[in-house]
Amino acid sequence: MAFLHLDIRCLYTLLICTAFGSTLSSNAEIKVNPPQDFEIVDPGYLGYLCLQWQPPLSLDNFKECTIEYELKYRNIDSESWKTIITKKLYYKDGFDLNKGVEAKIHTLLTGQCTNGSEVQSSWSEATYWTSTQGNLETKIQDMDCVYYNWQYLLCSWKPGMGVHFDTNYSLFYWYEGLDHAVQCADYIKANGKNIGCRFPYLESSDYKDFYICVNGSSESQAITPSYFIFQLQNIVKPLPPDDLSFSVKNSKEINLKWSIPRGPIPAKCFIYEIEFKEDDTAWVTTTIENEIYFTRTSNESHRLCFLVRSKVNIYCSDDGIWSEWGDEQCWKGDIRMKTLVFFLIPFAFVSLFLLLITCLLLYKQKNLLKMIFQKKKEVFSHQETLC
Ligand SMILES: *[C@@H]1O[C@H](CO)[C@@H](O)[C@H](O)[C@H]1NC(C)=O
Ligand SMILES: *[C@@H]1O[C@H](CO)[C@@H](O)[C@H](O)[C@H]1NC(C)=O
Ligand SMILES: *[C@@H]1O[C@H](CO)[C@@H](O)[C@H](O)[C@H]1NC(C)=O
Ligand SMILES: *[C@@H]1O[C@H](CO)[C@@H](O)[C@H](O)[C@H]1NC(C)=O
Repeated sequence: MAFLHLDIRCLYTLLICTAFGSTLSSNAEIKVNPPQDFEIVDPGYLGYLCLQWQPPLSLDNFKECTIEYELKYRNIDSESWKTIITKKLYYKDGFDLNKGVEAKIHTLLTGQCTNGSEVQSSWSEATYWTSTQGNLETKIQDMDCVYYNWQYLLCSWKPGMGVHFDTNYSLFYWYEGLDHAVQCADYIKANGKNIGCRFPYLESSDYKDFYICVNGSSESQAITPSYFIFQLQNIVKPLPPDDLSFSVKNSKEINLKWSIPRGPIPAKCFIYEIEFKEDDTAWVTTTIENEIYFTRTSNESHRLCFLVRSKVNIYCSDDGIWSEWGDEQCWKGDIRMKTLVFFLIPFAFVSLFLLLITCLLLYKQKNLLKMIFQKKKEVFSHQETLC
C-alpha cells in the first residue's frame, strides 16, 4: 500500500509540474496562424502537381521573425511523408496519380521574436484525386516501355480484362520541357485498336521524370486511366556488342574482344556479360571493358564458345535492360591444326595467284617477242626491196 501511495504522489507531482510548465509557456506563447488557401493543383502534366498556399493571417505582429513553411506530402497509402521546409508559397513534385495525394502544411516562426524557440501553427490539409475513377478492371495491363539503344522509346500494353469490345486506349506523355501533355502520334495497332506507341525523338528527356497516362474511351463504360513515371535512362536496352573476336595464346590463355555497340551510348556507360562454354560446362562473368582475358580450365577441351551481351552500367543509370546476346563465336579443335589451316589456305591462294600471273606474263612475253621478230623481219624485207 505504501508503494502505491508513493506512486500516486509522484504522479500528482508530475501532473502539476506539466500543467505548471505548460501554463508558463502559454503565458509567453506566440501564436501564428496556418497558411491560407492551401490546395493541390493539377496542371495536366499527368502526375507533376503543384502544392500552393497563401501567407497566414495577421503576420504583421511578427515583423522580426523568419516565416517558413513546413510541408509534408505523400501518396495515400505510402508509408512515409516527404518533408520540405521552404519560404516560397508553392512546391512542385511528381506523384503517382493511380493513387490519391495528401498533403499538410504549417507555419514556422523562428528568430528574434520567439526568443530562439520555434513556433508552429496548426496544420492545413489538402487531398487530391484525379476525377476519372472507374472499374479497376478497365485499366490497361502489362505496360512495357523500352528505350532502345537510348534512342527510340516504345511502349506496349494489353487491354483491360473486363472491357467492352469498343474500348480504345490513348497514350499521353509529358516531361519537363514540354508545354503540355502530348498524345502519341504513332500508335501500334491490333485489329484497329491502339496497343502501343512509337515515340518520336525526345529532346533532352534523360535524367528527369517521364510521365505517361494511358486512358481510354468506350460507349458502355468509363475506362480508368493508368499512370506511369520513370526515367528514360533506366529503361535503356542497348544493341548487342558485335565483331566478337578472340586469340589464343600458349593454348591456354584466351583474349576475347568485341566492339562497342553502335549508337549514342558512350563507351563508359556499358557493362558486358560474357558467357563461356567449354565443352559441357558454362559460366558467366561481367566486365566494363570491351575485352577480357581468361584461362581455359583444361587445355584438352575440344570446343570453346563465347556469347556477349551489354547493358547500361551503374555509372550512367540506376537500372537497365540487357541487350540480346550477340552472335556466338566458337573455337574448335587443336590450336596447331587451326594455325595450320590459317596459314596454309592463304599461302596456297597466294602461291596459286603468283603462278597464274607468271604464266600470263610469260605467255604475253612470248607473243610480244613473236611480234617483234615479225616486225624485224618485215623491216628487213623492206630494206631488201629498197636495195
Ligand atoms: C523574450 O525574452 C525576454 C527576456 O528574456 C523577455 O523579456 C521577453 O518577454 C521574451 N519574449 C517572448 C516573446 O517570449
Ligand atoms: C482507336 O484510336 C485510333 C486513333 O487513336 C483510331 O485510328 C482507331 O480507328 C480507333 N479504333 C477504334 C476501334 O475505335
Ligand atoms: C486522356 O487524358 C488526356 C490527358 O490528360 C486528356 O486530355 C483526355 O481528355 C483524356 N481522355 C479521356 C477519354 O479521358
Ligand atoms: C596440358 O597441360 C599439361 C600441364 O598443365 C601438360 O603437361 C600437357 O602437355 C598439356 N597438353 C597439351 C595438349 O598441351
